Amino acid sequence: MQGKTIRVAGPVVVAEGLTGAQMYEVMRVGAMGLIGEVIRLEGDRATIQVYEDTSGLRVGDTVEATGAPLQIELGPGLLGSIFDGVQRPLPLLRQQAGDFIARGITMPAIDRSKKWEFMPTVRAGDLVGPGDILGTVAETSRLPHRILVPPTIQGIVEEIRAGEFTVDETIGTIRATGNHDATTPIQLTQKWAMRHGRPYARKLDPDTPLLTGQRVIDSFFPVTKGGTAIIPGGFGSGKTVAEQTLAKWADADIVIYVGCGERGNEMTEVLAEFPRLTDARTNEPLMRRTILIANTSNMPVAAREASIYTGITLAEYYRDMGYDVAMMADSTSRWGEALREVSGRLEEMPGEEGYPAYLATRLAEFYERAGRVVALGKDERVGSVTVVGAVSPPGGDFSEPMTQNSLRVAGAFWGLDTGLARRRHFPAINWITSYSLYDLRKWFVENVATDWEAQTGEAMALLQEEAKLMEIVQLVGADALPEDQKALLQVARMLREDYLQQFAFHEIDGFCPPKKQYWMLRAILTFHDELIRALKRSVSLERVIKASASISQPIDTGGVPSKMQESPAGGLEKAVEPGSVPQHPGDHGTALERAMRLPVVAEISRMKEWEHDKAEARGRALIEETERELSALR
Ligand SMILES: Nc1ncnc2c1ncn2[C@@H]1O[C@H](COP(=O)(O)OP(=O)(O)OP(=O)(O)O)[C@@H](O)[C@H]1O
Ligand SMILES: [Mg+2]
Repeated sequence: MQGKTIRVAGPVVVAEGLTGAQMYEVMRVGAMGLIGEVIRLEGDRATIQVYEDTSGLRVGDTVEATGAPLQIELGPGLLGSIFDGVQRPLPLLRQQAGDFIARGITMPAIDRSKKWEFMPTVRAGDLVGPGDILGTVAETSRLPHRILVPPTIQGIVEEIRAGEFTVDETIGTIRATGNHDATTPIQLTQKWAMRHGRPYARKLDPDTPLLTGQRVIDSFFPVTKGGTAIIPGGFGSGKTVAEQTLAKWADADIVIYVGCGERGNEMTEVLAEFPRLTDARTNEPLMRRTILIANTSNMPVAAREASIYTGITLAEYYRDMGYDVAMMADSTSRWGEALREVSGRLEEMPGEEGYPAYLATRLAEFYERAGRVVALGKDERVGSVTVVGAVSPPGGDFSEPMTQNSLRVAGAFWGLDTGLARRRHFPAINWITSYSLYDLRKWFVENVATDWEAQTGEAMALLQEEAKLMEIVQLVGADALPEDQKALLQVARMLREDYLQQFAFHEIDGFCPPKKQYWMLRAILTFHDELIRALKRSVSLERVIKASASISQPIDTGGVPSKMQESPAGGLEKAVEPGSVPQHPGDHGTALERAMRLPVVAEISRMKEWEHDKAEARGRALIEETERELSALR
């Protein structure tokens, strides 16, 4: 079927003469055959969003219907690939067309010439249904790539062959049950229309964390395998670093990283850096578990949407094999902007801030494709897709539609704080406004420490108390606070600097396993407990000294002005009590000040450097030392 364009407006093209076209059918537009998708149908008129640069297109150009929606090719050879938004392999595109992607090029996503060793696990005569495993291919040395019966096929295996195959060759046939003529040839690849979620047997409650090795996340705002999290943050607050850090460290089997509409140089960094990295858990090249989708800001706007759907479809495919997949999208806001632009060109009734009224539904439908599921197939495999979406609210204002609609559907909210980023507190996740709706206490208690929950709860309570106290401090100054509250401020500072802050590029501290998180936190909380006790003792001790001083030297005290705080300097100098005259240099100041100079405090600030497997031993030693030093504090 062929039509003719009657209007071209940026990425949106209207064509007529397309009676019978389907919504989301792929059209090849103009002489170059630009790839586009039907997004509106009225009679024989189709509105097409074009995924390539439309400059040069004219009214009257031909539009060719392809009869199929945009399909993602799924099969062995995906891992390690770098695709553009419509799943064209970028390195090959570049070879063929230079650095600027030539338009209208189609290119198979998966290498056609490579042969894969296929080992069947079914035999001729077996009855198979959607999602059943037909056999495996060693896509990487660690992850068997399971070749599954496509979701629409059910029948008897007529023929199945072991051996080396390219992805196009037939590995066997399935004869549909009840219909003896219909046999379907099976290849190592299959296709899936990207806008539809792949089917599964049933959803499960997520109950396992996706460990990120980032203390603020794992300890306080964890996300589950199969959960969703969003990272909203203003310009330069650390969204990209956060997404990339998660892509490196998250304990997923497979990572799909979508660079959506962000600056090209950021994606270049990823493309340059990732292939050099090794996965600390498996010691294999990180790219073996990674698929990169690059749709940078200089690429056509409409393809941003395609990049998101390509990413989630690839994620679901590996989920169906029984793997835990994590998808990172940086930034979903650029997709939102593309929706806004296209909607504007369609002259749709705008919703909030010019975004289309269906923005909320679109986002919800996307995030709903995350989840932990029992896959189709007899063996009840469990797999998951976790989605972590960055959101870039203009001016860092979280009340804007993209942030609001995303947080409504996301399970964890890691709000980046421009103020923290400015003070170089990284990751700049605001611990007061962030939250996680996932209850993972059971997992941490069973797998890390029985008092995990009590401990992280206590630490968060201290941080929240600090936030309250800081308001008072801003009004009246820290000196007005009683000693135990001053102590709390010191410990909260420790929590912030020695625990929450984590430099993403640090050789050891870039990733912090939960056990180490536990011992680090326990060391700080022990310090707090012992400090409070020491301060109580020192107060009673001071009282005793004062009391005995007033008995032994009644005349002296009477003659000395009792308060030096009333000095014009604003009360910064401390009254020097008789009897607390410094004995040697390290001995001056209040008990709290002396406590904060103890060697254990320095050791706490070095905990991040602890080697992971020595964290428990060093933690225990530090805790003992803390008890010793603070109980000796006078
Ligand atoms: N966890 C971290 N550890 C160390 N440095 C960090 C961390 N997070 C962010 N940074 C610093 O902040 C800078 C900006 O971070 P990033 O590029 O991720 O921000 P962004 O929110 O993606 O910005 P944009 O809005 O421009 O996309 C980084 O170049 C890095 O120097
Ligand atoms: Mg960024």
